[in-house]
Amino acid sequence: MAKKVQDALKDLVSLCKRRGFIFPGSEIYDGLANTWDYGPYGCELKRNIKDLWWKKFVTSRSDVLGLDSSILLNPKVWQASGHVGNFSDPLVDCKSCRERFRADHLLEEKLGEGCTMGKNFKEIAEMIVENEIECPKCKAKDFTEPRAFNLMFKTEMGAVEGAGNMVYLRPETAQGIFINFKNIMDNVRPKIPFGVGQIGKSFRNEITPGNFIFRTREFEQMEVEFFCEPGTEAEWYKYWKQFCMDWLVDDLGVTKEKLRLREHTAEELSHYSNGTSDIEYAFPFGWGELWGIASRTDYDLTQHQNESKVKQEYFDAAQNKRYIPYVVEPSLGVDRLLLVLLADAYEVETLKSEDPSKPDDTRVVLRFHPAVAPVKAAILPLVKKGKVKEEAQNIYKKLLNHFYVEYDETQSIGKRYRRQDELGTPYCITVDFDTIGEGDDVNPELKGTVTVRERDSMKQERVAIEDLELWLFKNIARS
Ligand code: GAP
Repeated sequence: MAKKVQDALKDLVSLCKRRGFIFPGSEIYDGLANTWDYGPYGCELKRNIKDLWWKKFVTSRSDVLGLDSSILLNPKVWQASGHVGNFSDPLVDCKSCRERFRADHLLEEKLGEGCTMGKNFKEIAEMIVENEIECPKCKAKDFTEPRAFNLMFKTEMGAVEGAGNMVYLRPETAQGIFINFKNIMDNVRPKIPFGVGQIGKSFRNEITPGNFIFRTREFEQMEVEFFCEPGTEAEWYKYWKQFCMDWLVDDLGVTKEKLRLREHTAEELSHYSNGTSDIEYAFPFGWGELWGIASRTDYDLTQHQNESKVKQEYFDAAQNKRYIPYVVEPSLGVDRLLLVLLADAYEVETLKSEDPSKPDDTRVVLRFHPAVAPVKAAILPLVKKGKVKEEAQNIYKKLLNHFYVEYDETQSIGKRYRRQDELGTPYCITVDFDTIGEGDDVNPELKGTVTVRERDSMKQERVAIEDLELWLFKNIARS
């Protein structure tokens, strides 16, 4: 079973490279561990995800505004947020092979998720000994004492090296929103409740990155900080959990049965949170966190008020009262959602042979929702010359104005369909002699039409060239 699971991830990684979705980072220099580069189709897929999120969570809502804050912030931000003091994982070294591990991960492998919640380092050390935890690499059972390893990357700012110039790369986009709360209040003047959404890179020096793009040291986040009146946060917390789940299932087409909402136990909750849950997905390697939704109280704004001495209050004119707003935060990783969409879409389908003397065939297909798919349609002329080619190129140029479409005239039509199936292209548009109304046995009624083949059902229908743009718009938007 474990091998099958690993193979499923391996097959996906291999497809991603073969088809230009995701490449191992710095490959021509022997790579850089756990870094990945998004190729032509991967970056298109990523862009679609970010555009869909931005539209759903920011622009189509009257109560959420956008922000694009810096990656480099004054280090006092991270002092106030608690990241300097607390954003660390318990690190242990295997004394035999010197490999480093997260102590909580080693214990969770054996005892289950959340088993180290609320435990201090001394208790974690005892658990490692009592449960005879083995080094996953060399099988020795001899580890160093756990020690805190801060996950923030450091760098130097300016031309002069040395103390005083050190800055952190942000480990989350959220704090950029909190430190701009006053700017937004004073200059844009939204009324509470309202949210601020942001998409951007975050960096964490993870001890054990892995599982392809699931956990990396450089990744992108899409976060909303939703500011509300104290006392209303439970209602908004409930609202955002449902809103996020609905988006995944209804708009992105993620398989409902592979999603679950896991409420954090009291021991797991951060001291400032009065409710946190994870939307988890059944990845090929098991259930894992996709999306964190946290009710963060007024912790962050209060911390920044204390550290900066700048008031972070909201004046509610209707009620004639001042307060520091409470915050509900849905926080999602772009790369992690991309992995979910890839894993959810991936299928090796058996195609039953209609001729009993011939064996069944298989095809690899990415069943992306059309709105997510990197390539929306492929234009495939049946022959690569003359009027058929000319018409196919005209259609391609026309559709390019609105959609990311491809033109392909190489190889047999069957092989071209298979390539597009592997890219997850929902529609293949074939231009043939009927389209141009020339040649033997053409059906004059089909002149000016093309064949559109739907990826999942492989059903074909004739569509008039003049209706193609509208047809695609309608079908890409379908739920
Ligand atoms: N502001 C809250 C926050 O950052 P988090 O649970 O640490 O919360 C939120 O992260 C989301 O960001 C996760 O649910 C996951 O989707 C993504 N994420 C976190 N660490 C990641 C990593 N190392 N690699 C890829 N995605 C990551």
